[in-house]
Amino acid sequence: MATQKRSLSGRCWLMFSAVMLFLLFSAAITFRRHLPSPRQLKRRESLLEHVANSTLGFEKILVINLPSRRDKRDAMSLAAALTGLQLEYIDGAVDVEAKTLPPGGADSGRTPGELGNWRAHMDCLQRVVELNLSSALILEDDSDWDLRIKSQMQEFAAASRILLQPLRGTSDRFMDPTHLTTKSTDEPASYHLGHESQVAEPVSSPYGDIAGWDLLWLGHCGARFPIPAEEAAPLGRVEITDDPTVPETQHLDPQFGGREYIDQYPAHTRIVSHVRGNYCTLGYAVSQQGARKILYEMAIHAFTGPTDLMLHQVCGDTDGRIRLTCLSVQPQLFQHHRPLGDKSAFSDISNVWSGQNKLAFTRNVRWSTHLNFGKLLAGKTDYVDLFKDGQEAIDLGA
Ligand SMILES: *[C@@H]1O[C@H](CO)[C@@H](O)[C@H](O)[C@H]1NC(C)=O
Ligand SMILES: *[C@@H]1O[C@H](CO)[C@@H](O)[C@H](O)[C@H]1NC(C)=O
Repeated sequence: MATQKRSLSGRCWLMFSAVMLFLLFSAAITFRRHLPSPRQLKRRESLLEHVANSTLGFEKILVINLPSRRDKRDAMSLAAALTGLQLEYIDGAVDVEAKTLPPGGADSGRTPGELGNWRAHMDCLQRVVELNLSSALILEDDSDWDLRIKSQMQEFAAASRILLQPLRGTSDRFMDPTHLTTKSTDEPASYHLGHESQVAEPVSSPYGDIAGWDLLWLGHCGARFPIPAEEAAPLGRVEITDDPTVPETQHLDPQFGGREYIDQYPAHTRIVSHVRGNYCTLGYAVSQQGARKILYEMAIHAFTGPTDLMLHQVCGDTDGRIRLTCLSVQPQLFQHHRPLGDKSAFSDISNVWSGQNKLAFTRNVRWSTHLNFGKLLAGKTDYVDLFKDGQEAIDLGA
C-alpha cells in the first residue's frame, strides 16, 4: 500500500513537473517573440541618441542666409560650432519675379522681402526633395537656441512619440483619441513624459516614424492650441513639467500667439501639441513627404499669403489644401536673436524696425547661445540668463 502510494505520488509529481516545464517553455518562447532582438535594441538606443547628434536627429540642418548678410552667418556658424551642430547654408532669394509665383501670387500684394522669404523656404524644401532626405531641420539665420538644445530635443522627441506613434502592439490605435479624426469635438487630453513607454518604438526617426509626421514647428513667434472644432487638428497635449530651461511665467512672451500656455500651466512647463495658427518660420523640421506636400501646396498649388500663414494653413485649419500632420511646442525651442545695434538689421523681410537696440536678447530662451558666446569661448559656466527665477520681467523694448 505504502509503495503504491509513493509511486502514485511520484508519477503525479513527474507529470506535474512535465506540465510545468512545458508551460514555462512556451511562456519563454512567447515572451522571447515579443522581446526585441539585440539588433533591434541597438537600433532603438542609437535612434534616441541620434537626437543629440550634430544634426539633432534629422538628416541635415539647412540654414537660409542672404549672401548680403554675412554678419548673420558669422553668428550662426559660431553658435552651431559652440553647441555641436553642423549646418548647410542655402542662399536667400531677392528679386522674385511675379510670373514665377503660383496661382494667386501675382496679385497677393506681398512685399519683395516677403516674396524673397517665400522663395528661400521653397528652395530649402526643393533641396530636401531633390536629395531625398528623410528629414531636415530648416532654420532662418537669425534663429537662436538654448545651450541645452540637445537635451531639450530629447524631451521633445519623447513627447512627439506620445502624440504620433501608435499604441504598443497596434498599428492604428493612438494614445490621443482625436489623432485620426478630422472633426474632433472632444476635450483635449493631456499626457506626460513617461507615457512614451506605452507607444510603439519608432524605427525610422527618433521623433516618431517618418511616415507619421510632416512638420515639427520648433521655432515660431507665437502659437495657439488646437480647439475642438470642425477641421481642427488633433487635440492631445504633452506636458513637459519642471523644465528648468523654461523661464518663469512673468518672463514669457506669447508675441503673436495665445497666452494659454502661460496662464493655465505651472511655471517651467513646456507643452507639445499639434499646430494651430503659428507665426514666423524661423525653425521647423520636415519629413520627406512633408517637404513634398508643402512644396506642392505653397509653390505649385496656390499662393494665399505670407509664408507662415500658408504653412499654418497646410497644417490643418483651412479647406482646399492637403492636410498635414504638424506638431508645435510652447514656449518655442528656437527663437529670433535680437543683437545690439541698428534694429533695421533684425530683418530682411520687413522694415518695421528703426532705432537702436540697447539690450541684446532672445525671447523665452534662458541660456541663449548667442548671448553666451563670450562665456563659452572663455570657458566659463556662469551663463548669461536674462530670465532668472524670482526676478521681475525685464523690458526688452523691441
Ligand atoms: C543624426 O541622426 C539622424 C537620425 O537617425 C540621421 O539621419 C543623421 O544622418 C544623423 N546625423 C549625422 C551627422 O550622423
Ligand atoms: C528615397 O528614399 C526612400 C527611403 O529611403 C527610398 O525608398 C526611395 O527609393 C528613394 N527615392 C529615390 C528616388 O531615390
